[in-house]
Amino acid sequence: MEQYAIKGGNPLVGEVEIGGAKNAALAILAASLMTDETVLVENMPDVRDTNVLLQAMQSIGVMVERIDRHTVKLNGSQIHKLVIEDDYIKKIRASYYLLGALLGKYKQADVSLPGGCNIGLRPIDQHIKGFRALGAKVSIEHGLIITKADKLMGNHIYMDVVSVGATINLMMASVMAEGQTIIENAAKEPHVVDLANFLNSMGANIKGAGTDVIRIKGVAKLHGTEYAIIPDQIEAGTFMFAAAVTKGDVTVKNVIPKHLESISAKLLEIGCEVKESDDEVRVVASKALTHTHVKTLPYPGFPTDMQPQIAVALALASGTSIVTESIFENRFKYVDELTKMGANIKVEGNTAIIDGVNRYTGAGIAAPDLRAGAALVLAALAAEGFSTVDDIHFIERGYEDFPEKLQSLGGIIEKVDSEQALQKFKLKVG
Ligand code: UD1
Repeated sequence: MEQYAIKGGNPLVGEVEIGGAKNAALAILAASLMTDETVLVENMPDVRDTNVLLQAMQSIGVMVERIDRHTVKLNGSQIHKLVIEDDYIKKIRASYYLLGALLGKYKQADVSLPGGCNIGLRPIDQHIKGFRALGAKVSIEHGLIITKADKLMGNHIYMDVVSVGATINLMMASVMAEGQTIIENAAKEPHVVDLANFLNSMGANIKGAGTDVIRIKGVAKLHGTEYAIIPDQIEAGTFMFAAAVTKGDVTVKNVIPKHLESISAKLLEIGCEVKESDDEVRVVASKALTHTHVKTLPYPGFPTDMQPQIAVALALASGTSIVTESIFENRFKYVDELTKMGANIKVEGNTAIIDGVNRYTGAGIAAPDLRAGAALVLAALAAEGFSTVDDIHFIERGYEDFPEKLQSLGGIIEKVDSEQALQKFKLKVG
């Protein structure tokens, strides 16, 4: 029974170093197998999702050498299997990136249907449509997505929805296809750009990543590279909101402020001070928070992965706020947990109507998914009294050393694994 034990009430104050972006890492690690030469990836976050993906890659013959906690060397010259049906990999959404990577390199791949956070229906029709447009046959049999092509040919693909995953998968599948591929209505997220930069550093010819239209001229093969992953926009945003929720003063270091603009804008709107410099952003919450409205949108809009964190802040802000979730249809599962802490939130379809309260009170709560789990930890850090947060394996999927980083900012939080340890924590912190 691993859980976080938290005593709330301390404002979080200080500086925190942000790690490499989990979602960029998943794409980049998968793409590393597309060359037979060695690839060195730096600034990799040491979180459960990246470790599971590395294990899955090892299981098909990718040589993985961990240089240090955040640096890994990969070599895909000895791949002996194009089937990935590991039970474990089903749990991570990005397992399907191995489909794009293997299909792009070997013109064939069978990968288990993906899992990931249960935040609503997560179809893969756009991935399949794109693979087919490149000339692959795609079927779903026995829980596996089976893809095969005699050869892959560039094509003009119009995405019906803006999908990060499908854009990434199609970049990988088309990078060594014959001729030119154009992806219209592509996702513009920072990790889409990071993958394009990574592939280009391997000899690919990808232009336009970060805009709606990505043009990929197929190359015969890719070569080795050394590459450092961008900082994690969502980890940074979570700590920025930690300052707002706990009325603290937090500087996130090693970030790209441009990637945080939609998050900074909302913090300003609700009454925080936000100071940006080259590679850090400081958030000071010295005044009472005020209400606002927010709608999640694809980048550069406000990220759906920050929706629970902003809701946790708005539930403590004066007045009525409205949060509209436009990407995933079931992303308010944390509301029941937050209600236990005294929040006043009503969910209607994809909208949460939040009436601000003065304070949270500690409670026994559980993380329903990765980002909501992190948001509930922030609520517990602001709450009066003790809280426990269960199902922290969700949080560990995407946050490296989360309790330690929060402790370094003055948060009273510990990971405990028994009732005895919990009692000891309570005695210690009083
Ligand atoms: C990625 C991120 C996730 C983030 C999400 C939106 C990774 C590993 N995960 O997830 O953290 O919350 O982007 O920023 O990077 N859709 C379809 N058909 C498809 C694919 C998607 O209809 O074939 C829909 C989805 O149901 C959703 C929307 O498109 O409504 C966006 O999904 P998408 O961008 O694909 O999310 P993921 O790549 O799964």
